[in-house]
Amino acid sequence: MDILSWFRQKSKPAERSENRTMLRPVAPRPKIWAIGGGKGGVGKTLVTSSLGIFLASCGKRVLIVDADFGAANMHTIFGINGSKTSLSNFLKGEVLDFSNLIVESGVMNLDLACGQKDSLDVADINEKGISMLRTALFRAPYDYVLLDIGPGTGASHLDLFLTAETGLLVTSSEPTSVENSYRFLKCLFLRKMRNAVNDSDHSVLKDALHRLFTNNWSQRVKTISDILQQLKLMDPQNGTLLDELMGGMKIGIIVNSASGAVDTGFGPSMERACADYFGVGIAHIGDIARDERVSESVRLKKPLVLHAPESEAAMALKKCFSKLVSSEERVSDRTSKGMVI
Ligand SMILES: Nc1ncnc2c1ncn2[C@@H]1O[C@H](COP(=O)(O)OP(=O)(O)O)[C@@H](O)[C@H]1O
Ligand SMILES: [Mg+2]
Repeated sequence: MDILSWFRQKSKPAERSENRTMLRPVAPRPKIWAIGGGKGGVGKTLVTSSLGIFLASCGKRVLIVDADFGAANMHTIFGINGSKTSLSNFLKGEVLDFSNLIVESGVMNLDLACGQKDSLDVADINEKGISMLRTALFRAPYDYVLLDIGPGTGASHLDLFLTAETGLLVTSSEPTSVENSYRFLKCLFLRKMRNAVNDSDHSVLKDALHRLFTNNWSQRVKTISDILQQLKLMDPQNGTLLDELMGGMKIGIIVNSASGAVDTGFGPSMERACADYFGVGIAHIGDIARDERVSESVRLKKPLVLHAPESEAAMALKKCFSKLVSSEERVSDRTSKGMVI
């Protein structure tokens, strides 16, 4: 899917309803971008820290939220100590003011909400905690909030990822990473479907899906696309509703070759496979080469794009982000002029 069409996809209905319920005029809420993936060590933190610095250098106010529960280390990448309280304290209701988690990153325009010093039961975060975080993020006085989400398909990770209007999936082309990425996407879309039908407004849709899974058709339902297609055949109105609910999030793939050579054919083939399997447009944003300067920068506790801005990996990251931001700006520019996109 080309990147402009990808940005032109509708925004999430959930965000529109959030805005509708506001009683007072508020500043535009920040754009929330999530960076995740099924596997650890594939470069999610590298992508998040580099994207934060890139956006901040464009004059945007940026907050990075270290949401890698239990293994948060964004503060180390920036070479700072972090905050006294952690994201887990907020999620468990021990700290009520989200701003208490925020510290300066040392880079102009860029702050961090730190997750270090997590309590040991941090993995037990419930939906209420995630909902509180979502509310705090929508009110945060930034242009962009970037969520660095930990690996795996836990419900809290998926729900956090679904909070964003734009999601970046970081993967390598190694079979283990590919397997985990597809699994992550499958769990993400099923979770999105579950969240959509659990919404009380959509009880009819819930019934329709229940019928779909309990009648003979369920044997033919193998992919997320199958579910949508079969539901449309069975109940066109609810099928279209679910299609709309599922299509609201933009997901891009960044292939980071953390431990091997770049396979340039991999991103486009993953893009095609995702379209077939999930029936949702997922854009391949770009490839990052394996580069020794990355681990060098981690050891020096200085973000790669500041430590070695001319390195191959830093240049490739910049290319990905420029592509993302310029496509986003072109689309919103045309929207604000009233053109249909
Ligand atoms: N493009 C790359 N080239 C070389 N090493 C990399 C690259 N990307 C990541 N790494 C190595 O992998 C480690 C894990 O990266 P990180 O961004 O922390 O992954 P994640 O957040 O997905 O767990 C880094 O500390 C670095 O040593
Ligand atoms: Mg990480």
